[in-house]
Amino acid sequence: MPSYLFILGRDYKLSLLEIVAYLKARKIKHRLREYSEKVAVFSLDNLDMKKLIKNLGGCLKIAKVIDPDSILFTKNKVRYAISDYGSNFNSLKKLKDVFKREKVKGILKKAARKKQMMPSESIKFMKKGTEFVLFKDYLARVVAVFDPKEHEGRDRKPKYDFKKVISIRLAKILINLSQINKGLLLDPFCGYGTVLQEALLMNSNVIGVDIDRDVIRDAETNLRWLKRKYGFKGHYKLIRGDSTKLRFLVKNVDSVATEPYLGPFWKQLPSKERAKEVMDGLEELYFEFLKELRIVLKKEGKVAIIVPKIRTKNGVVGMNFKRILAKTGFKVDNFFNKISFPVLYANTNDRIEREIYVLRQ
Ligand SMILES: C[S@@+](CC[C@H](N)C(=O)[O-])C[C@H]1O[C@@H](n2cnc3c(N)ncnc32)[C@H](O)[C@@H]1O
Repeated sequence: MPSYLFILGRDYKLSLLEIVAYLKARKIKHRLREYSEKVAVFSLDNLDMKKLIKNLGGCLKIAKVIDPDSILFTKNKVRYAISDYGSNFNSLKKLKDVFKREKVKGILKKAARKKQMMPSESIKFMKKGTEFVLFKDYLARVVAVFDPKEHEGRDRKPKYDFKKVISIRLAKILINLSQINKGLLLDPFCGYGTVLQEALLMNSNVIGVDIDRDVIRDAETNLRWLKRKYGFKGHYKLIRGDSTKLRFLVKNVDSVATEPYLGPFWKQLPSKERAKEVMDGLEELYFEFLKELRIVLKKEGKVAIIVPKIRTKNGVVGMNFKRILAKTGFKVDNFFNKISFPVLYANTNDRIEREIYVLRQ
């Protein structure tokens, strides 16, 4: 099996869990050889890496490991770049030796910042040259790069409210963590439909539920726009309803990927007392919703879910999610033995910290 270096995004634990979940869901044979906070080395069956990187939310580049002694060049002039993620050897010298051996003139392009090219830089450069990636003793050639422009295009959907929309990156991570592969995915708090939209583009059928009539209408507008622009094949259904009464709304769900209601939008950090009040309400909502979910989720179905923590003027307020799990019968699905859930996803400026869980029944 060939080996690949996956350059991981900012939240490397999530990125890594996402890749493992994606491969597991599709029964793709793989072996994780090693990983750091920046790079994961997988041996993998041959895959369409360009499609893979489009489907992943937390991966920046994929590079195929090569043997320096067997590099062949078809041209006598090569433009190349090096992104070094912590190599054990003098990479530049090694490559220069190869160029000498092959009688090739190598023209080096330096990364604009630090030692590594950013994805947007890599994309531009790959039109005219080859980017090599170095990590420990590995030398690899970049074969696929995440294109930020793609997300920007989809973020220009007709209906959008930054308070209610999660990033495409996080939406994809949740979808992949839910281990869906073409089945029926439910987002019980669908908002403007970011999770639904990304799952449709990955060939799933989706159902979105939201309690707010206007939001459902806007989600419909967004998905129609998506269909016109991207032409997905899957089916979608949007339901205006309360997810604490799911049994009356949906059935036979394969997976769930969701960012539920996380409380009001905080302009300023609240007091601890106010945050506790809100959190009590959220705890009730999560409990009622998960209780219902047991009824409509297939036995082997997985749930990728965000659980909020509210930052306050004096400390962080969370909910007793363990108690909710015990009462509803869901279990944490630690499908990868080196990293366990929850995994924290937190932006420095946000009022809310997000803990991500994957659950099973
Ligand atoms: C954080 S947003 C979801 C974001 C969404 N995943 C997206 O990317 O567009 C939460 C949504 O939950 C909805 N909501 C709140 N309580 C609900 C309930 N009991 N049942 C269903 N939806 C609910 C709100 O109307 C809101 O649109």
